Amino acid sequence: MPPLASPVSFDRTSGLAVLRTPNSVYAVRVGADGSPRHLHWGAVLDTDALGGLPAATSPAASSFEADPAPDELASQTGARFGPAGLQLRFADGTRGAQWHFTGHTVRDGELRLRLADRRYPLAAELCYRVRPDSDVIERWVELTHTGADDSGPITVDRLDSASWTVPPLPDYRLSHLVGGWNSEFQLRRDRLPVAETVLTSRCGLTSHQANPWLALDDGTATEEGGEVWSTALAWSGSWRIAVHRDPVGRTTWTGGFGHEGISWTLQPGQSLHSPVFSGLYTPGGFGAASRAWHTHIRTSVLPAPDRDRPVLYNSWEATGFDVDQPGQTHLAQLAARLGAELFVLDDGWFGSRTSDRAGLGDWTPRPKAFPDGLRPLADEVHRLGMAFGLWVEPEMVNRDSDLYRAHPDWVIHAPTRDATELRNQLMLNFARPDVEAWAHRTLDQLVRDHGADWLKWDANRVVTEAGWAGHPDPDRLWIDHTRAVYRIMDRLRADHPGLRIEACAGGGGRADLGILARTDQAWTSDNTDPVDRIGIQHGFSQLFPAQTMAAWVTDSPNIATGRTTPLRFRFHVAMAGALGLGGDLTTWSEEDLDEAAALVAVYKEIRSLIQHGRQHRLNGLGGVTAVHYASEDGAEHAILAWRPATRFGHAPPGLALPALDPTARYLDVDEGIAHSGAVLTRQGIDLRLPAGDYASRLIRLRRTI
Ligand code: DGJ
Repeated sequence: MPPLASPVSFDRTSGLAVLRTPNSVYAVRVGADGSPRHLHWGAVLDTDALGGLPAATSPAASSFEADPAPDELASQTGARFGPAGLQLRFADGTRGAQWHFTGHTVRDGELRLRLADRRYPLAAELCYRVRPDSDVIERWVELTHTGADDSGPITVDRLDSASWTVPPLPDYRLSHLVGGWNSEFQLRRDRLPVAETVLTSRCGLTSHQANPWLALDDGTATEEGGEVWSTALAWSGSWRIAVHRDPVGRTTWTGGFGHEGISWTLQPGQSLHSPVFSGLYTPGGFGAASRAWHTHIRTSVLPAPDRDRPVLYNSWEATGFDVDQPGQTHLAQLAARLGAELFVLDDGWFGSRTSDRAGLGDWTPRPKAFPDGLRPLADEVHRLGMAFGLWVEPEMVNRDSDLYRAHPDWVIHAPTRDATELRNQLMLNFARPDVEAWAHRTLDQLVRDHGADWLKWDANRVVTEAGWAGHPDPDRLWIDHTRAVYRIMDRLRADHPGLRIEACAGGGGRADLGILARTDQAWTSDNTDPVDRIGIQHGFSQLFPAQTMAAWVTDSPNIATGRTTPLRFRFHVAMAGALGLGGDLTTWSEEDLDEAAALVAVYKEIRSLIQHGRQHRLNGLGGVTAVHYASEDGAEHAILAWRPATRFGHAPPGLALPALDPTARYLDVDEGIAHSGAVLTRQGIDLRLPAGDYASRLIRLRRTI
């Protein structure tokens, strides 16, 4: 057997760097001009084929054309006219970098290409990392001002993490996520125009409107097959990804933190490190791309992937701001009866917070609501056998709060501008070390004082009138604020090993690989309507695994849409993620409470399949969609199928389950019916959905041979 090719290699003579993953090869060649140029990202190529790839630096065909060799990080020099991933100015006003290659390092699956500017004191390392058994390539850039103390500053207008290039394809299609509050993660698949297409957030959070994930294909890929290239940025503040399909048929995209128009000053000796921008290639279609992301997030992103996500109860939809000890205790007792494992006290428990107009920033229990503090409630929740969780929104402040009265200068603001209030609140500037220290101290104390096992970390507004009065480099707040959020979460987790954190920003406004590296799950959307949720969850699942997708069963009619749906349907939709309960249980009938308890019990039986299994999205006929979860060994399966609206006509054919093994046999464990894998994969399973709208079913299959 030939020796296994090493996952990362660099050949000094040819300047060829190669990253190998189980199903892909990524190749770069350092050109004669010192710039690392992209050669290949896609199907596995052997060494001979790689050697035959064209030289990396090819001169432009005419004086009006761009240099055709795509950069790994495009600077603002040379015949480069696409979006530049590195934009900077030296003290004398000169823009851009011209590199010479100074060396490389290969260690533990990591490749670093070291570059230095030919004339100016600037160094960059282009970093790549591959991990065993994964097709994901992680990339980032480290930029350093290498000048002496008296050399002037370097102004960085843009530092992207990576530029990605796909091979020439007959056509290009862009899959991406768009939305808004209550309608996050809507999947769009659009033909890519011959143009620059910008996906971005300018709001200081990942955003509801766009997510820093995309997938590229030639327009023919399906869930089951076809080449797909996909990338995801690990950043929770503003970001920008520019996809460039040029007139001669190439497509590249460059992306990183920050939106256009903000800059960062590097003083001599200082460095700026970009966040990680990860990419993967698969020949297996959109489903395989998602499963590869799910595995990556489980194995390399989440801090505690193996812990089961608890069935939680959250008070928000039940009580809003109207929380007090007797009311929450009653809800906790009902939640425990249903089988909840975690009780989360949401907004309204602190300061003078009886509405969204006051109290944010004052993180002490509201005396009228909790005269003896939160301990009695926390103790009762623990006595009931549940963990205790607290809602917090540490980055925000109401003007009507003791914190704001004491520290009006702590908010992000431009002194000569009117500060826009959103939800009657302003945003604290966590880039300030004193504010970061206050926030860490306050949260640390909260967790200690109240025995909190869980924090739901919310953020209900975005950045406006960004300013930092008196600071010489105010734009850095866009990046430093997010880094401080990360640091605080990391410290809290380190100091309280049992603590779990749920990411939230007015629903799903902050879900990305950066925040998930220090949280356990993300609140997907404030929209808990099960019909709307099917679409939201479909989009969310493109990148994120089910264990990170918080999904609650709430009241009917739904608070957001007014739609009335059966309890069972609501459960079957929420069971596709990390199940939670969020309704006003005091209004549920005894029958509903009993049915809910039974469904929670069923969820616990399939929880490890949902939260740790492999996910396959299915599109049935007759308005049916479904998600199939399979255990790693292929022995256990759970299929959740939904048909929100019925249609008159012939009974739809069965739901094909292509992820099953056609040579195996399966038992429907609830019905006791034996099935042949060959039939289930092709003709499908008869769902026998009940008549009418909002029909749903959970099918559990076990492989028998
Ligand atoms: C927005 C969140 O998404 C909700 O779940 C809830 O926590 C409210 N904020 C509280 O203000």
